[in-house]
Amino acid sequence: MTRLAILRQKGPGEAPYWQRFEVEGTPNMTIAALLDKLNYDDDVFDIDGKPTTRVRWECSCLQGQCGACAMVINGRPALACDTFLRDLKGDEITLAPLTKFPVVADLVVNREAIERGLQEAKMYLEAPEADNSLAADDKPVTNDPSNREESHIAGENASGKPRTAAAHNEKLHDLQYTAARCLKCGLCLEICPNYVHGRQFLGSLLANNAFLLHSQSEERQQELKESFDAHFLIGCSKSLSCEEICPVGISTLASLFFMNRRRTH
Ligand code: SF4
Ligand code: FES
Repeated sequence: MTRLAILRQKGPGEAPYWQRFEVEGTPNMTIAALLDKLNYDDDVFDIDGKPTTRVRWECSCLQGQCGACAMVINGRPALACDTFLRDLKGDEITLAPLTKFPVVADLVVNREAIERGLQEAKMYLEAPEADNSLAADDKPVTNDPSNREESHIAGENASGKPRTAAAHNEKLHDLQYTAARCLKCGLCLEICPNYVHGRQFLGSLLANNAFLLHSQSEERQQELKESFDAHFLIGCSKSLSCEEICPVGISTLASLFFMNRRRTH
């Protein structure tokens, strides 16, 4: 039997309380599967046999692709569908809602602030004028040695040699591809010591979106740089805990590096 302690809340503004359950779990089950099992029967009982309501939580894809099931598992922000019992230590698993967003009920939070913040920071493509070409100083470069200094993001490859134009473009596209996978799950905001709900600082996901859009949109570079400064750079203390927590492996450091590098041109 797997023992679960869940921080529950009936609705917005209601007092939270811990409730314990026992569910038959196996090492290869995810937290999402365990919650499903707990909620399976019409009658749900807590560990003392007291009847209770089903535990509310959110999910959609169950494949680590949508971010809906983000919660705090054993004190660490994580996706329920991507966290396996075999990887959790201790006699009891604790589940709590993300703390940086208002609770809707039990493990469900309202993450509207993410979309609203990105909208206010103008982190979107303007469809009719959208220009998917690379920014002027990120256009694919030739192997002309005079271009070489401009041709790499981090300057050198692992062996200390300047990156070639092809390697540069491949690296840029890799970073763009990864940044585009952002789930807007909010895990990076949950772990960030500087993110506070409703304030201007929008953490790692803003930095990654800024990098992505900046590298794709020639016309909006100045505007995006200013927004990056106002909504990320001013508030970031470089703890970079967001790098560890991101379920799709987006590198805030790479986004920061890219945006800072653009500043020097
Ligand atoms: S950057 Fe990573 S952790 Fe942050 S919202 Fe996007 S996917 Fe989630
Ligand atoms: S349900 Fe989509 S990421 Fe977990």
